[in-house]
Amino acid sequence: MAAQRKPMMAANWKMNKLVREAEDYAAKLLPRVADSTDEVDVAVFAPFTSLPTVGRMTEDSAVMAGAQNLYFEDSGAYTGEVSAPMIKDVGAEAVIVGHSERREIFGETDETVARKAAKALEAGLIPVVCVGETKEERDAGGMWEKVSGQVRAVMDGLDSPSGDSVVFAYEPIWAIGTGETASPEDAQEAIGQIRGLLGELGGEEFAHSVRILYGGSIKPSNAADIMAQDDVDGGLVGGASLEADSFAELVEVARQSVAQNEDDAQERMVE
Ligand code: 13P
Repeated sequence: MAAQRKPMMAANWKMNKLVREAEDYAAKLLPRVADSTDEVDVAVFAPFTSLPTVGRMTEDSAVMAGAQNLYFEDSGAYTGEVSAPMIKDVGAEAVIVGHSERREIFGETDETVARKAAKALEAGLIPVVCVGETKEERDAGGMWEKVSGQVRAVMDGLDSPSGDSVVFAYEPIWAIGTGETASPEDAQEAIGQIRGLLGELGGEEFAHSVRILYGGSIKPSNAADIMAQDDVDGGLVGGASLEADSFAELVEVARQSVAQNEDDAQERMVE
């Protein structure tokens, strides 16, 4: 992680937790991470049913509540959908957009993902835009074609975003929920390429300040090596975020990566 960007550790609960379980989790997590939020942005992406609970419980803390999806209209005859104003109304500050499960299972396209990201940004929610390739695409040498297309589609629809108004997450689909993490080098290579493309599309200042997370089978035992990579600014965590204890451990790993960064910077000054 580079020193100019504040790392983010984000829990994606996916379709898990009843309201009571969300309450227990937040009650456990908040005191555990309270001392870390100056150095690390901590976010919990909850299902819509428990989002109001998480929104309320995080209200007086620096921990961010987030939704896992949104629709790109504000209101109207869209049965089953939830809009940006509704998400903000229950205390959320961010929203995951274009998660591979939405793209693969629910048929979201680059176009709908781009419209959702644009709507989130316009509404003042931080879109956490997910991109990533399947195993077949990677094996066939098509990783960058897929990922760059996903990034371009979203950036085309955003109106001069600032680096702190949007977050990207590189989540190789073959690493999600499989226990097979991308190697730290593969994560760095992909995320470095994404940052390069963001420089072309959004300018150098944007590319230097925007955070790009890695997601896919992150756990406390492998997070430090991933976080140590220059371009990796944090993690979007599924399975290992479901227990408050292991997610708090991941926040601690991110905090330590900040300290490590400062040590490295000092060493460079001395040299
Ligand atoms: P896992 O951490 O369970 O692999 O899930 C990653 C993910 O999809 C986060 O959005």
